[in-house]
Amino acid sequence: MDRYAVVGNPIAHSQSPRIHGLFAEQTGQHLRYDQLLAPLDGFEASVRDFIAQGGRGLNVTVPFKQQAWALAQRRSAHAEQAGAVNTLVVEAGGALYGDNTDGIGLVRDLQRQGAVLAGRRVLLLGAGGAARGVMPSLLAEGPACLVVANRTAARAAELAARFPADIPVTGLGYPGLAGQSFEIVINATSAGLTGELPPLPEGLLAEEASCYDMVYAATPTAFVRWARQREAALASDGLGMLVEQAAESFRLWRGVSPDTAPVIALLRAEMQG
Ligand code: ATR
Repeated sequence: MDRYAVVGNPIAHSQSPRIHGLFAEQTGQHLRYDQLLAPLDGFEASVRDFIAQGGRGLNVTVPFKQQAWALAQRRSAHAEQAGAVNTLVVEAGGALYGDNTDGIGLVRDLQRQGAVLAGRRVLLLGAGGAARGVMPSLLAEGPACLVVANRTAARAAELAARFPADIPVTGLGYPGLAGQSFEIVINATSAGLTGELPPLPEGLLAEEASCYDMVYAATPTAFVRWARQREAALASDGLGMLVEQAAESFRLWRGVSPDTAPVIALLRAEMQG
């Protein structure tokens, strides 16, 4: 049986084995998908070992996405720009191909819920690895502009400068958002992990705005609550993104696209008990 795994540290709470198990069942693909806990100083050795045991592909999570980028001999254009790889494909001969499906996962989940990016003003909150990872896919949708706002303004400006595009990409601190409004606002900060919110000015949401939190939780996140209070047309957490990025990894490995909607619905129901 073809073997796959998600590698990270920590890894015990990863939903990926469950999601890929559901995909395999749904599409009739015979595969095994495990969790792989790599030592913090032993990512490459863990990957090599997995390949030596017949591994065909890996999902890569915190804190190894940059190391996976460096390890891949070939990379997709989006992975190249993102500077991070979340999917490794073991090619014939054992070479590693790296892609980053996080951005596609985000875009597909936004689209699945009716949000349009083309021609819209898009605001990305945060300038860390999570933000950088999704920027290539957001820009590929052709927004009117992409503004990156971050607590540390210089980090946002640096990140924006990495993406020379026909589309205006700017980076600023939160005070710089005063007087601007956006149709799409995506939270890529880790502020929510401690129940916090970036300091967002009032009037930030345009009519019918869509708000998306890249993290997910059993109860609405602080950012989802913020969006609901301001009557955003969409206020979504990132559960769908998790499933969509997995589906794109599955397609890269198996050549088959699973149906994501029933898997998202099942995980949501389970999460809410
Ligand atoms: P990740 O890989 O999740 O992106 P990261 O690279 O550490 O992790 O980035 C975390 C992001 O969340 C950063 O944009 C960080 O802002 P700074 O660059 O100014 O540190 C942001 N962040 C974390 N806690 C925050 C908070 N309480 N309020 C606002 N932004 C926060």
